[in-house]
Amino acid sequence: MNGLWSALGEIDALILALADSGPPRAQVVVCPPVTLLTEVCTRIAGSPIAGGAQDCHAEPAGAHTGDISAEMIADCGARFVIVGHSERRAAHGETDEMVRNKALAAMRAELIPIVCVGETEAERDRGEAKSRVDAQLRASLPDVADALALVVAYEPIWAIGAGRAASPADIDSMHWVVREALKDRYGPTGDALRILYGGSVKPDNAAEIFEVFNVNGALVGGASLKAAEFLNIVRAA
Ligand code: PGA
Repeated sequence: MNGLWSALGEIDALILALADSGPPRAQVVVCPPVTLLTEVCTRIAGSPIAGGAQDCHAEPAGAHTGDISAEMIADCGARFVIVGHSERRAAHGETDEMVRNKALAAMRAELIPIVCVGETEAERDRGEAKSRVDAQLRASLPDVADALALVVAYEPIWAIGAGRAASPADIDSMHWVVREALKDRYGPTGDALRILYGGSVKPDNAAEIFEVFNVNGALVGGASLKAAEFLNIVRAA
């Protein structure tokens, strides 16, 4: 819930900077609030940036006042949607099953779902981080996946907005868990799926995080609000 119309200059700055430095070798996606999504998708058209939303409803349409369907998001010109972010799971009671249905809805609308999983600090302290994430993956992911049409984001909840990312060693061991779960589930496709790390990714730690095996990108919150900071993360990628 960050970003008014007055923040759109950050998008323009990002488009300009990427045009100046040549096409990025990483895929760049911005997921603004849905109030800005159509305008952002219009501005990024023809640039290497893709648009996405931060949540969707599982149904295509109907009496769901205030909700936004995956079809509506696609209709804005977006190509991605984040589902199962820990803030949605915590504040809106979203279960793994609901997240899975949202991921399926995204696929139905030909959007690429970015499915988020991650453990709480208490779960980590109890030694349950791996089993928690494994269970979330089993229940939140669709049964069938195409390597380019699904993205998984591992976001330890204790690192989100904390200013303290997980250590490269912790990221490495958790991304192995995610990779193994994806291979179990999807076979060779599981090897090709992109796994993002999220949680306090900043310009000054992005390069070391991107070096970790099985880290195929980042899901950036706070540091994506300013074009200059986000751009430095894109450059690191
Ligand atoms: P952060 O947020 O980068 O500010 O920690 C990540 C997220 O909300 O997914």
